[in-house]
Amino acid sequence: METTSTNLRAHVEVMGRIVELPLVVGTEQEVAIDGQQLRSETGAILLDPGFGNTGACMSKITFIDGERGILRYRGYPIEELATGAGFLEVAYLLIHGELPNEVEFSAFEDEVRHHTMLHENYRRFFDALPMDAHPMPTCAAAIGALSTFYQGDLARDDVRTHVIRLIAKMPTIVAYSYKHSIGQPPIYPRNDLGYAANFLHMMFSTPCEPYRVDPVKARALERLLILHADHEQNCSTSTVRLVGSSNANLYASIAAGISALWGPLHGGANQEVIEMLSRIEAEGGDADAYVARARKGGDSTRLMGFGHRVYKNFDPRAVLLKHSCSELRDTMDGHSSRLLDIAFRLEEIALEDEYFIRRRLYPNVDFYSGILYLMLGIPVNLFTAMFALGRMPGWIAHWLEMKQDSSTRIGRPRQIYVGPTKRPYMPRAERS
Ligand code: ACO
Repeated sequence: METTSTNLRAHVEVMGRIVELPLVVGTEQEVAIDGQQLRSETGAILLDPGFGNTGACMSKITFIDGERGILRYRGYPIEELATGAGFLEVAYLLIHGELPNEVEFSAFEDEVRHHTMLHENYRRFFDALPMDAHPMPTCAAAIGALSTFYQGDLARDDVRTHVIRLIAKMPTIVAYSYKHSIGQPPIYPRNDLGYAANFLHMMFSTPCEPYRVDPVKARALERLLILHADHEQNCSTSTVRLVGSSNANLYASIAAGISALWGPLHGGANQEVIEMLSRIEAEGGDADAYVARARKGGDSTRLMGFGHRVYKNFDPRAVLLKHSCSELRDTMDGHSSRLLDIAFRLEEIALEDEYFIRRRLYPNVDFYSGILYLMLGIPVNLFTAMFALGRMPGWIAHWLEMKQDSSTRIGRPRQIYVGPTKRPYMPRAERS
């Protein structure tokens, strides 16, 4: 990828030796020290656990300014996309770099519609798994296994078809994993429905009773998916890029991304939020007591759905979802609206609490997404798979960008070894 050339230089002194390193400036004036020659020039590497200060690539896909609460896909503010666009339009934007016109959009939508079915043999894959299998490992394994049905296309390197297949089949895979977990037969996709409506149909129809899709709920789901569609170099996207940098195929790279997203500190947080809110409700609804516990610090009682590595003032996605929750409150059942009340109260207390203010901890996207999923009838253990469904176009866009970038090298971080220095091997009998 081309760099913005600049005359700016950084001077780094390492053990008495000063080296000059170029600076790279992005289109939003973000500055990086180009450290590619650091080790060869100085012998030193940059130690940066968690990669909080390391840029692994240059990207044209998503811009985030965590200080100002800005999130843009390909330059378009998330607020405008979430209120004006549909999910497939946003997927097109992320993958192709530009919004589609009418002709481009209907061709794309048509292609997606015609790849929604799964191979009949592939359905047996779900039967092999235990009924209580968590949907995330099911989805990761299913996406990995999908590649085995398209080995010819993989050999021909027909990337476009793989992209369409992944976008089209992911809702079917997520819905099948749910149907399997409740012992119901899988429901075939309906290509006359929109993306979100078709997903709700596959989730909640049965062979003996159709599910009438509420357009308000379908629209709420589209918004959730749009808000999850990309978030630049997060843990799962970096995983997709890292795996793909070895020339692993798109299915294998995305299967790895799904596994990364499964963790409770990443995509698993919205499930943990609902579990936390339900616990608070079961214990009498005392939000103050929970915040006091979370304030003690440590990993065990964090306020789930609060804090973010990047957003330090507010997460714009959380603001939009909080708004959706208020809008859809009338359609919520008693349980969801009690949890919503607790969530509002927790936010109110935490935002005035010295502990949270000092650490700049605010609600993140997961704080309200779980409540909306509950309102749509999505079971708690499927939440992270819903996140994966939304994130699919982002993962694909990053994988394609990484492949098309001539400066991509296989991802291979270094380390500082702190283990024992050289010592001789002793036969087992001689060890005390
Ligand atoms: N509740 C209570 N304390 C917290 C929380 C929280 N949710 N989050 C961070 N802290 C505290 C830490 O204990 C730490 O305190 P200390 O300085 O006294 O040790 C300080 O804030 C900084 O926390 P870090 O873990 O260093 O922050 P980091 O940027 O590495 O982590 C993370 C960000 C993982 C999101 C963290 O805030 C967290 O665990 N939040 C809860 C889980 C969550 O909501 N994850 C979803 C993230 S969004 C996403 O992935 C889509």
